[in-house]
Amino acid sequence: MKWMKVSSYEEMSKVACSIFVKQLQYKPNSVLGFATGGSPVGFYKEMVKSYQEGEISLDQVRSFNLDEYIGIPFNSPASYYSYMVENLFRHVNIPKESYHLPDGNAIDLKEECLRYDKSIEEAGGIDIQLLGIGVNGHIAFNEPGTSFESLTNIVNLTESTRIENARYFESLEDVPTQAITMGIQSIMNAKEIVLIAFGDKKVNSIKQLRGGKITEDFPASQLLKHPNLTVIYGSEG
Ligand code: PGA
Repeated sequence: MKWMKVSSYEEMSKVACSIFVKQLQYKPNSVLGFATGGSPVGFYKEMVKSYQEGEISLDQVRSFNLDEYIGIPFNSPASYYSYMVENLFRHVNIPKESYHLPDGNAIDLKEECLRYDKSIEEAGGIDIQLLGIGVNGHIAFNEPGTSFESLTNIVNLTESTRIENARYFESLEDVPTQAITMGIQSIMNAKEIVLIAFGDKKVNSIKQLRGGKITEDFPASQLLKHPNLTVIYGSEG
């Protein structure tokens, strides 16, 4: 486990990107695990820059995102699909058939969950997974109380997560009530995990993580058992 303290959001983004760049230089056909939200925006900017400067190519990469809302069109501006296209995919040379997000509009959502874990497995597993952390310790949409054994599944979003994510929608009522998320075990199956967290809002969750107590009440704590975890964190204060 590696703890890397940084002094700015930009530094966090650059450090996280440099880990992915190294991975891609070592294994150009890596399977990458991507995350959405506010934390990785700078990371994707750095990835695009590295691509434009010829440091990396994404033509052989396959990627899997952590989660997607249920019940909004995949191309709605608030979907995680749209987030990924806007922040990364449309700027780099990853083929359209190579990136994957769970399908929140699948007719059989339970089947979709099984299919998603299976397609990650068939790709050879995730080489390196990017992760954010929620103020309550959630990872992806795995809220406190989620079983550490969980695989990709359908979850009801907590009120606090819906309020937190309302900034991406016109109103709170528009925020979906459910999502498909990779489970904690699906995330733990990645060969390497990079968790990024910057800002005063994240200080307490990082403190709790550093405290070392592994409990399902704090989903991120299971990551402490991962053999190859890097936490890149910091705050203004
Ligand atoms: P954020 O969310 O990156 O938008 O702060 C992280 C998370 O809730 O997992």
